[in-house]
Amino acid sequence: MGSLRSILRSFCVAALLQCAVTTPISPTAPTTKSFLKQIDNSTWIIGNGLWNVTQNKQYATKLWYKEKDLVGKAVGHYVSYNGAASDLSWTSAAIVETGKDYINVKFTALEGDFHWIIYDNLAGAYQYFVNHALPKLGEFRTLWRLDNTTFPKGRTNVKDGLLPPISDYLAGTNVQDETWQKADGTYLTKYDWSAFTRGLDFHGVYGDDVGSWYLNPGKDYINGNHLKQELMVHRESKTGDAVQLNMIHGTHYQALASDNFSDGKTWGPWLWYLNNGSKDDASERAKQEDKAWPYTWFKDTAYQSRGSIKGTLILSDGRPASGAAVFLGDNNSNLTALDQGKDYYYTVYADKDGYFSIDDVRTGTYGLQAWSNGGALADVTTSFLQNAIAVSENKTSDLETLSWKVADRKNRIFQVGDFDRKTVGFKLSGPTPYEHGRIAKCPANLTYTVGLSKQEDWCFGQSALGTWSIVFPSSSENATSVAARLSVSLAGFSGGSSANILLNSVKVGNITTNSALLPSSQDTYRGATQAGEWHLLEFPIAKTALKAGFNQLDFQVTTSTRWRGWLWDSILLEYI
Ligand SMILES: *[C@@H]1O[C@H](CO)[C@@H](O)[C@H](O)[C@H]1NC(C)=O
Ligand SMILES: *[C@@H]1O[C@H](CO)[C@@H](O)[C@H](O)[C@H]1NC(C)=O
Ligand SMILES: *[C@@H]1O[C@H](CO)[C@@H](O)[C@H](O)[C@H]1NC(C)=O
Ligand SMILES: *[C@@H]1O[C@H](CO)[C@@H](O)[C@H](O)[C@H]1NC(C)=O
Ligand SMILES: *[C@@H]1O[C@H](CO)[C@@H](O)[C@H](O)[C@H]1NC(C)=O
Ligand SMILES: *[C@@H]1O[C@H](CO)[C@@H](O)[C@H](O)[C@H]1NC(C)=O
Ligand SMILES: *[C@@H]1O[C@H](CO)[C@@H](O)[C@H](O)[C@H]1NC(C)=O
Ligand SMILES: *[C@@H]1O[C@H](CO)[C@@H](O)[C@H](O)[C@H]1NC(C)=O
Ligand SMILES: *[C@@H]1O[C@H](CO)[C@@H](O)[C@H](O)[C@H]1NC(C)=O
Ligand SMILES: *[C@@H]1O[C@H](CO)[C@@H](O)[C@H](O)[C@H]1NC(C)=O
Ligand SMILES: *[C@@H]1O[C@H](CO)[C@@H](O)[C@H](O)[C@H]1NC(C)=O
Repeated sequence: MGSLRSILRSFCVAALLQCAVTTPISPTAPTTKSFLKQIDNSTWIIGNGLWNVTQNKQYATKLWYKEKDLVGKAVGHYVSYNGAASDLSWTSAAIVETGKDYINVKFTALEGDFHWIIYDNLAGAYQYFVNHALPKLGEFRTLWRLDNTTFPKGRTNVKDGLLPPISDYLAGTNVQDETWQKADGTYLTKYDWSAFTRGLDFHGVYGDDVGSWYLNPGKDYINGNHLKQELMVHRESKTGDAVQLNMIHGTHYQALASDNFSDGKTWGPWLWYLNNGSKDDASERAKQEDKAWPYTWFKDTAYQSRGSIKGTLILSDGRPASGAAVFLGDNNSNLTALDQGKDYYYTVYADKDGYFSIDDVRTGTYGLQAWSNGGALADVTTSFLQNAIAVSENKTSDLETLSWKVADRKNRIFQVGDFDRKTVGFKLSGPTPYEHGRIAKCPANLTYTVGLSKQEDWCFGQSALGTWSIVFPSSSENATSVAARLSVSLAGFSGGSSANILLNSVKVGNITTNSALLPSSQDTYRGATQAGEWHLLEFPIAKTALKAGFNQLDFQVTTSTRWRGWLWDSILLEYI
């Protein structure tokens, strides 16, 4: 700096200018040191030289960045559970750790502690929550509700663009939960801004010169499996706020998913990242965070204690479990993989040889599940389960060869669709995974003829009063002499519609609303078209029910509620 000052001085002298060279050029760059300032017993300001946030008892109501308050008239930042019924109240704040270039600020509430790790030169902060006394809950989230002129757009990996203006909501007719019909007959719903959580690279809200993003590497603290879906961003329909959600425990598209957490369960750290609105930059940063996960700088013994597992899944008929969905979750649980959520969860897909490995697993005892993700395993109705899998620090648990019991394929009479817990392959299943009311575009009556029809002749979801039939031949060798089993795999089910299942006009099964076997999930009516909560229904078929030659299986809808019904995964009939 001394030399710069002397260069300036000689320049001023040479140009005969009167410059005050001693004051304007500071010897150090403007300070961007991170800080916590307490204003009164329920107001704090945190941030660094790039941004700062004013945190009140519940809501952080100001976010200064680039000389602008990004919250404006919106609600700001908060942490809440059970559908916004409870917003956490902060009783104190303190710096609990100071590093060379960061501080760790802890806000304390009765339920637990919310931390902001603020680096001196980073626009945004790492955040995490440590449970102490959260009640048993379904929804737990952190979020920003931001100024809607600064943040007109939203971005997930499946949808990107303008958040519909609140004027569109006001002009429409509310037809159900957060869903409006516009004058042109189309629908507007916040659920369009959902995504499969584990497939999401990053999401946020943005405008021409600023973006606010959530980058959640690892995601092991989030409930559910590969098919866990959540709402990510949306326009608040009452206030117009631009909402950026971080659903760290959620029930969207599910039936139950209510969990009790141990003291110490930690969500995060994730990065809340501010930039100039560039999606490329956010994407680049998300990749860096993925590479850096698990974060070596996070001083938490349990978080740092990790190991790996690997193994090879082989089907009992000798085939490798190619591409199987592999899930590492609760030990000895009676819940499906999607419904688990009290601890930490890992999801991968096996390779073509059935081999899988999972790195950076928190040490503990797990249950391993696997199921078909279609492809070469499209016929596999069974799931693999092995409990008591120990993961030890810095070790790789080699599970070697795991045998997965499957049914004999030669007993199959017919199968419609692939077993993969998704509607993929059926008519209208895509291209986008969300569209309110698309299920109403499936026909009321439909006939599928085994051997003639193609997979896309069957529609992704059934709701309307009518009958969908499968016409199939049965060999004269077995008909009337061998019992069979009908497997009805549903990729989702929203109660309100029911059906009888008839084989050659005789009732053999049912899809029934309000049955203990079939809890209702928030999928079809919220526009999910690819997956919701999966259910496998199995019905015994008596020897005498099948006849030689052509048979007919009917799914006859007996009661129908608009937009409610089921998402199809697969239907299989086999001799047993
Ligand atoms: C916080 O401050 C308010 C007044 O500013 C006072 O009434 C209240 O008692 C204080 N609460 C605590 C817990 O100190
Ligand atoms: C927060 O940022 C604004 C805008 O840059 C600035 O005026 C204000 O002084 C900052 N607050 C603190 C406590 O640094
Ligand atoms: C933004 O919010 C305001 C209320 O604060 C509302 O009047 C306005 O319509 C909203 N803008 C959009 C684009 O929805
Ligand atoms: C939740 O777990 C705690 C221990 O972590 C236990 O004391 C409590 O009874 C559990 N509550 C429910 C509703 O299961
Ligand atoms: C935003 O930042 C990125 C990366 O820092 C840069 O490449 C881009 O040009 C910037 N865009 C604008 C509009 O300033
Ligand atoms: C699972 O087990 C818990 C108790 O361990 C019980 O409360 C719950 O009803 C069971 N759920 C099912 C689906 O069996
Ligand atoms: C894991 O589950 C098995 C039952 O499948 C049980 O025997 C074992 O004790 C459990 N291990 C732990 C650590 O809970
Ligand atoms: C695991 O590795 C880390 C990092 O090398 C080390 O700090 C830790 O002590 C190791 N733990 C065990 C149990 O060996
Ligand atoms: C008849 O049923 C047996 C199982 O009992 C099965 O192995 C065989 O493949 C079936 N035959 C035909 C032609 O489906
Ligand atoms: C479906 O088929 C039934 C029985 O043939 C018929 O009464 C009904 O009108 C059909 N529904 C539609 C929408 O075509
Ligand atoms: C529906 O099927 C289940 C078996 O999946 C059976 O237990 C139940 O009794 C049936 N309900 C009706 C109403 O037929």
